[in-house]
Amino acid sequence: MSMQFGPSYVRAIAPYVAGKPISEVAREFGLDEARIVKLASNENPLGMPESAQRAIAQAASELGRYPDSNAFELKAALAARYDVPADWITLGNGSNDILELAAHALVEKGQSIVYSQYSFAVYALATQGLGARAIVTPAVHYGHDLDAMLAAIADDTRLVFVANPNNPTGTFIDGAALEAFIAKVPGHVAIVLDEAYTEYLSAEKRYDAMSWVKRYPNLMVSRTFSKAYGLAGLRVGFAIAQPELTDLLNRLRQPFNVNTLAQAAAIAALNDSAFIERSAALNAQGYRQLTEAFERLGLEYVPSDGNFVLVRVGSDDGAGNRVNLELLKQGVIVRPVGNYGLPQWLRVTIGLPEENGAFVAALEKTLVVA
Ligand SMILES: Cc1ncc(COP(=O)(O)O)c(C=O)c1O
Repeated sequence: MSMQFGPSYVRAIAPYVAGKPISEVAREFGLDEARIVKLASNENPLGMPESAQRAIAQAASELGRYPDSNAFELKAALAARYDVPADWITLGNGSNDILELAAHALVEKGQSIVYSQYSFAVYALATQGLGARAIVTPAVHYGHDLDAMLAAIADDTRLVFVANPNNPTGTFIDGAALEAFIAKVPGHVAIVLDEAYTEYLSAEKRYDAMSWVKRYPNLMVSRTFSKAYGLAGLRVGFAIAQPELTDLLNRLRQPFNVNTLAQAAAIAALNDSAFIERSAALNAQGYRQLTEAFERLGLEYVPSDGNFVLVRVGSDDGAGNRVNLELLKQGVIVRPVGNYGLPQWLRVTIGLPEENGAFVAALEKTLVVA
């Protein structure tokens, strides 16, 4: 008889499905890497800012030593930017790390975590990894139903995850509704407000969650350098919360969870406001390009405030995977979202104009055949 290792709740986890790397698609489909377009992981199509590249080159000579465990300079830069004390900041190996740390620091096995249907996959993974109970509220128009989430909070709930904008749907909750929700969540229940895509919000949609952190001791705001800041491969994210929450995460985090190059690059990128502006403008232009094409092709899509769009590519549950495979054969990598319960949809990251064009052309060819 074969041995079964580990707790049943770990064995029950369906592993995270990452976007396929370019090299893998090139090998699998016999394609030239240089011609492959990857719009699968919500990365910044401009790549890493030059300011960060210079900072990395400078920091490279320090790699014989461990990183600064407390990331003094990066925390000082973040503290100045967001007008909070440095000891309100937790750094993560990507904001994924923050989400995991929050779950582990705040919730015991058997207690519950509330999040929405179609919200970011890591909330489910973090919950399952603990043996905690997931309370998943049905989405409305593919986004969070905050009233349902509030009503779902149980006696044993210790954490609520909210993504704004949400991935993979791109849906957005306006600041007033979000703050009203936060104010109603009981004080002993922590809220992780995941703002991985906040830099892409248009000026009229912006709100200041960092100022809410000062008023709500149960609120933690998480952000990342992986998206608009263009540093996905370096893995750096951060959370801002009052010390009661921050201290707990800091006890659990690995002492060197953010490496030396990541710290240096993040400081440079944080100060590179021109790069962020360029990225957001390019994204807005790409959003128009993609959604105009979807309208022309008669494809339903979910209006998005992130750097990606969810598009329905067929009306049967094989459609997402089928169209995805045809796109892969043409060297276009997007993300099927069957694992999110959206088998008729694909999520496409907004790329450079020519990348968006290549995706639309490949999609059009596929739909004619299908
Ligand atoms: C909503 C959301 N939160 C967090 C993350 C984690 O990103 P990272 O770990 O690269 O910061 C992602 C990445 O896709 C995301 O979509």
